[in-house]
Amino acid sequence: MTESRDWYKTAVFYQIWVRSFCDGNGDGIGDLYGVYDRLEYVRSLGVTAIWFNPLYPSPNADYGYDISDYCDIHPDYGDLAQFKKVLDRAHELGMKVIMDLVINHTSDEHKWFQESRKGKDNPYSDYYIWRDKPNNWSSVLEGKAWEYDELRGQYYLHLFARKQPDLNMDNPAVREEVKKVLRFWLDMGVDGFREDVINFISKKEGLPNRIGVIPILDEMKYYKDGPHIHEYMAEFREVCNEYNAVQIGEGPMTTVVSALKYLTGRSKSLDMMFSFDHMTADCLFTEYVHLPFKLARLKKALSKWQYQLEGKAWNTLYLENHDHPRVLSRYGSERHHRESGTMLAAVYLFLKGTPFIYQGQEIGMTNIRLMSIEQYKDVSSKNNYYSYHLKDDEQSRLRRIHLSSRDSSRTPMQWDDSDYAGFSTVPPWFGVNPNYRAINVKKQEAESDSILNFYRACIRLRNSSPALLYGEYREHNSKEPNIYSYSRSLDGEVYLIICSFFMERLPYIVPKQFRGMKARLLLTNYPAKRETGMEFEMPHTGFRVYPYEALVLRIS
Ligand code: NOJ
Ligand code: CA
Repeated sequence: MTESRDWYKTAVFYQIWVRSFCDGNGDGIGDLYGVYDRLEYVRSLGVTAIWFNPLYPSPNADYGYDISDYCDIHPDYGDLAQFKKVLDRAHELGMKVIMDLVINHTSDEHKWFQESRKGKDNPYSDYYIWRDKPNNWSSVLEGKAWEYDELRGQYYLHLFARKQPDLNMDNPAVREEVKKVLRFWLDMGVDGFREDVINFISKKEGLPNRIGVIPILDEMKYYKDGPHIHEYMAEFREVCNEYNAVQIGEGPMTTVVSALKYLTGRSKSLDMMFSFDHMTADCLFTEYVHLPFKLARLKKALSKWQYQLEGKAWNTLYLENHDHPRVLSRYGSERHHRESGTMLAAVYLFLKGTPFIYQGQEIGMTNIRLMSIEQYKDVSSKNNYYSYHLKDDEQSRLRRIHLSSRDSSRTPMQWDDSDYAGFSTVPPWFGVNPNYRAINVKKQEAESDSILNFYRACIRLRNSSPALLYGEYREHNSKEPNIYSYSRSLDGEVYLIICSFFMERLPYIVPKQFRGMKARLLLTNYPAKRETGMEFEMPHTGFRVYPYEALVLRIS
């Protein structure tokens, strides 16, 4: 009997984007040798599961999300034997491992596509979506959504980059291939999958033209939560059920209502889903409009998912991943590095759901600001630079890239203050953020009040209380523009979390129901100013919080 799947509810995930994590064989590229050496570090955070971004062979047009072989490891990262070694060691240390499953598209260098191009009468001919005439859709990463293929004499659909042709999921043979891939990794012993743009895999028949004027957004209804999505998902769930494998879907632009269809009831096919709402508190789609960060938007989005999934489904909790700039540079403040970096840990690690920490987030890595667009690697950063706001001068276009580029989360991990930040012994494949001498793991290991040690303390506290794991969420002071405060409670056990997003001192108004109650301070990011364990009576008015302060109180 395989172990129950419910482990994910008490897990803390760490996300590894391997190319920039740790170079173990000295060629400047992160790999599974480096990962192996750092597994104890990952475990030391309190992490109990790892999500690997794609490790498969790939021409890297979209850094691994363009897969040319689903059942192998990219030679830059090692081989299957090395992967197995990492997997077994992670298990020994008490960590589960999930893989990235990218089945909306492959690389154009995948054998299936190479065969499919050859004509209409070969076994792979219907593996992709071919048309004589393109429709008017745009791709998310690179220009129009259709590309002409000379050999085949037709256009193929690519919702993402040109080198990422969409698979035709309506073809049962393609779904059988997906199941083979699932089994391949599950048989090897992985514990589940993070499923890339999984709500996009079933397209509306006929692929109708967009009617509205907004590219991508106005045509998304023809492929988001498409007509056969739940049938296909059920087929994949069946395989995963045999292994009790955890399935976590990425759901770009998903709503609570549509997410619940994947997460509950007869159509349940996923254990959790990554939603995007709270990422729009500043800059999703910065290439069109950049919104300055507004806490009100963040609170509204987080509360919406907390309330509306309560008692029905389980949330994922994240502030960073490989698709967004660094959160400290966005929702925090580089000038208040330690304070805002610690506060950003507390603000989401005590929400209800399963937290994901993205490599480097735990030391407060920040955005990189490269001098020219040529220095950027990411296809979408380049596309954004060359496609939008072309009338603006070069400097302001580059500033937009500084604010929005995914490359800011893809700079090499900052391990210490030696050359190349201890990531490699030779110049790395991509620029190290010049602040590595001040911001690195080694330094923060030695400082008791560092961001790194604060992550550890938050995770320890979270695990120590059923109320913090399973308790109900309530938002307080919702009108307060600069403070996010919420409680978690279960069977009379109440915790109050208070986080300031402001660079100066501020009054915090104590919510009515807590006034005069006994409070005990369990966690603070101002250890020099406040004493952990201190007990006091909650004032009848309020008290002042420090810049970017985070407090966790037990109320009784
Ligand atoms: C979502 C992934 O997280 C992102 O990195 C990628 O570009 C797209 N899906 C396409 O696979
Ligand atoms: Ca390497």
